[in-house]
Amino acid sequence: MTKTILITGGAGFIGSHVVREFVTKYPDCHIINLDALTYAGNLENLKDIEHRANYTFVKADIRADSAVQAIFQQYQPDGVIHLAAESHVDRSITDPTAFVMTNVIGTVNLLNAAKELWKNNYEGKRFHHVSTDEVYGALGDTGLFTEETSYDPHSPYSASKASSDHFVRAYQDTYGLPVVITNCSNNYGPNHFPEKLIPLCIHNILNNRPLPIYGDGKYTRDWLYVVDHAKAIDLVFHGGKNGESYNVGGFNEWQNIDLVKELCKQMDEKLGRPAGTAAQLITFVKDRPGHDLRYAIDATKINQELGYRPSVTFEQGLSITIDWYLNNQEWLDNVTSGDYQRYYEKQYE
Ligand code: NAD
Ligand code: DAU
Repeated sequence: MTKTILITGGAGFIGSHVVREFVTKYPDCHIINLDALTYAGNLENLKDIEHRANYTFVKADIRADSAVQAIFQQYQPDGVIHLAAESHVDRSITDPTAFVMTNVIGTVNLLNAAKELWKNNYEGKRFHHVSTDEVYGALGDTGLFTEETSYDPHSPYSASKASSDHFVRAYQDTYGLPVVITNCSNNYGPNHFPEKLIPLCIHNILNNRPLPIYGDGKYTRDWLYVVDHAKAIDLVFHGGKNGESYNVGGFNEWQNIDLVKELCKQMDEKLGRPAGTAAQLITFVKDRPGHDLRYAIDATKINQELGYRPSVTFEQGLSITIDWYLNNQEWLDNVTSGDYQRYYEKQYE
């Protein structure tokens, strides 16, 4: 193997697509997937590539400093792509400390381990931190987030991600650690955990349950197909400049209510139900506290410097996504049993 790349959070939604992209595209690279398998981590997401010769799974918790150090010493990675995180805004509102522990302390543990392993020679090494557009706060009706937009996080989740971004930059500035950061907009696609808007609505439509829309539904997000995010991470990991951050987006803004109506339309068609059936389930519910009005990414930098463009339109990506859920209802059943029911009742009671 020419290189070893450690990917954290590789059993999660985006991480599993990144692992697949790297394992299949770089057969000469040893890909280590480090994941604690929290409620959001699922090795079923990687069934198709788990027997590849260049893939190794390691169950470990990034909050445990000594375990992280030991894994770095054992596998000696040349590169790190860090995705492991608590990722759901609503959960951060009920348990902020969990987000500090994983997203901030966990990131610092990884930075320390990389610094220690690479201290004698940073040549050919890279720490890629996968972050979010939520660190920039909320936009009004116009404007876009650029890499120069000031950080202004509002939720405990986005505050923890902003903090981790600052630590990553501090390790570059203080110790010279070679780092890159990507700040991406909302992802959607296969393997998305059904606590997030799109898979939650798909699951509820299948079960004839209400589709909970927070507030007036006019909140706006910029949606990107998850495989295109994985490809952007590959571009930046291999071609980005040390110390730089890159915004990644879908050029694809939707108000939540319009998005859910589009989803309902496609679901009715695919399920052979009369038009308007799923939309009858739309229910406006109590708003999310501190709800950011609008996110939208200016992806000019990654486009011009690294040639990034999303490969599918939203209509195509959404259709692929719905088909995946319809063909993988066992996956959906497995992840929505047990703890998920308790979470759901508490969140939407
Ligand atoms: P996810 O919740 O689906 O997956 C997170 C993964 O991290 C899971 O496999 C989980 O088991 C693992 N994990 C959690 N805590 C851990 C710990 N303490 N130690 C080791 N592993 C742990 O998240 P996602 O949506 O795939 O997001 C991945 C990353 O991308 C996150 O850093 C998130 O902030 C960022 N991001 C997500 C989006 C999005 O739309 N989902 C957009 C931009 C950026
Ligand atoms: O912007 C990137 C971020 O996108 C990532 O950093 C986060 O990890 C990811 O979870 C996502 O955050 P959001 O809060 O935007 O995603 P979520 O799917 O939870 O919500 C999308 C929008 O839909 C948001 O405006 C809240 C709203 N919503 C969500 C849920 C779960 C509802 O109206 N009803 C719901 O039940």
